[in-house]
Amino acid sequence: MSVQVIDTIDELQARVASTRFLEKVVGLVPTMGALHAGHVGLIDRAVDDCDLVIVSLFINPTQFNQQDDFDRYPRIIEDDLAVCEKCGVDILFAPATEEMYTGQECTTVDVTNLTDHLCGPERPGHFRGVATVVVKLLNISRADRAYFGEKDAQQLAVIKRAVEDLNIPTEIVPVPTVREDDGLACSSRNQHLTVEDRKNATMLYRALVAAKDAIAMGEQNTEVVTRIACEYFKNQPRTRVEYFEIVDPSDMQPLKVIQGPVCVATAVWIGQTRLIDNILCCPDKRD
Ligand code: PAJ
Repeated sequence: MSVQVIDTIDELQARVASTRFLEKVVGLVPTMGALHAGHVGLIDRAVDDCDLVIVSLFINPTQFNQQDDFDRYPRIIEDDLAVCEKCGVDILFAPATEEMYTGQECTTVDVTNLTDHLCGPERPGHFRGVATVVVKLLNISRADRAYFGEKDAQQLAVIKRAVEDLNIPTEIVPVPTVREDDGLACSSRNQHLTVEDRKNATMLYRALVAAKDAIAMGEQNTEVVTRIACEYFKNQPRTRVEYFEIVDPSDMQPLKVIQGPVCVATAVWIGQTRLIDNILCCPDKRD
């Protein structure tokens, strides 16, 4: 069966409504397109779990801090459609900006506290844009389940909290990070890296693994763990660490002492490209 491409909210809602009385489980995978192996991890999981799978492709302007970042975001819908076909997706929902935003909106979704650290301070308004568009997509699709990557740990925490706080009846399903063979997390931004920068980009994962190992060996002081991990970023000419933080995975607040599961997260600029990654660690578990 081939993928149905839908670009209006009315049509999507009519299509989903027609399956409702059949008690089918509806799954949504929100994306901004340029689909790669990381997205495929989410889509495969949704196809396994659900009867009707919708992939949304919407490059959401309200979550970009810089116009040129939005402008240069890859737009390759034909390739994305082929990926969806291959994965067995039922619907590709690809609305235009005017379909999602009339320009008359007075409402946004602001998730406080969880956005105070990590990517929040450097990207003002970003998580408001993300939370607002995701709530809109959940309401439009009325999905039973929606799939999000652990790669964007703070985004996942923000969405989980918004859904809980606003009593949205969709189950949020986290999906583990998909990585290249050398550990670099798959991302649409990886294609902006030069050959040399791409080689160096593995330092993010290596630093995170060093932190994980130190924690597994019993190190509880987050300052010490951070110092060990950040050795990997030293003497790297085209590299700037935006943050390296160890936070509580439920509220994204920085910790001084590690006593339970933690999320170690980092954002690093390599040349002109900003990469983020994170790893979940447990004090008594090496893997
Ligand atoms: P986008 O960057 O396209 O990512 C879509 C989904 O794919 C997100 O849930 C993200 O966490 C997940 N993802 C990306 N790379 C991954 C990887 N290597 N492994 C596992 N999952 C990965 O995130 C967004 O779009 C947008 O903010 C969105 C949620 C669609 C709202 O506009």
